[in-house]
Amino acid sequence: MRRKLVVGNWKMYGGLVANQALLQDVLNGVSELVKADYAVCVPFPYLSQAQTLLAGSNLAWGAQNLSTQQEGAYTGEVAAGMLTDFGCTVVIIGHSERRGLFHESNEITAEKFEAAQKAGLKPIFCVGETLAERESGVTEQVVAGQLDAVLVRFGATVLKNAVVAYEPVWAIGTGKTASADQAQAVHAFIRQRVAGYDAGVAQNLCILYGGSVKPGNAVELFSMPDIDGGLIGGASLVANDFVAICKAAQ
Ligand code: 13P
Repeated sequence: MRRKLVVGNWKMYGGLVANQALLQDVLNGVSELVKADYAVCVPFPYLSQAQTLLAGSNLAWGAQNLSTQQEGAYTGEVAAGMLTDFGCTVVIIGHSERRGLFHESNEITAEKFEAAQKAGLKPIFCVGETLAERESGVTEQVVAGQLDAVLVRFGATVLKNAVVAYEPVWAIGTGKTASADQAQAVHAFIRQRVAGYDAGVAQNLCILYGGSVKPGNAVELFSMPDIDGGLIGGASLVANDFVAICKAAQ
């Protein structure tokens, strides 16, 4: 039986004062929820604040990106070891905003995946198609290509210690959620694709759905057989909404 997981992706939002209230309220809301796992991925400067407030709780924390490199003259980059210094256990890799706005290729994404695991971080590896890709019928090809960047290079065993997040780009921040059936179909495809490499890994793989998950649609999405939880953007910034989504995973 796979455990459900709900992860908040704050993106580039927050501030010291607002974070304090948000984290405290989320913590209060999830502290009794023992049947699923929870995490928030905050901007780099707030990792220390997250560590101070969340240490010892059932709300884990992590980052939204990391460098492919361990250290060196890479101005502006943040290494995996720096994230573990602040107690991170997870890191988002290959988010469509990184792929699209910052031109991260499948190759770079695979290198980041490897850098994360070398440091003991669990990658939350994002895949998903654009609207144009969906409309031209190549969703599965696109998702397969993104998955294969990791599978072909490292094999399926690396997914024992990773999470995959299916985030259709057209559903991110648009209020336009994939229907539960649309999401389920791609989740099943992802699991089947991984099963082509290793059936046992596929069976245990946690596959999150992301893209306009709200309290009103979380229960239906999370009840689908291959949807193991959510990666939550906008709604993770509103404590009541995020807690309601966490409860939907119970
Ligand atoms: P929204 O929940 O705001 O659509 O964002 C989804 C997302 O990109 C999470 O990584």
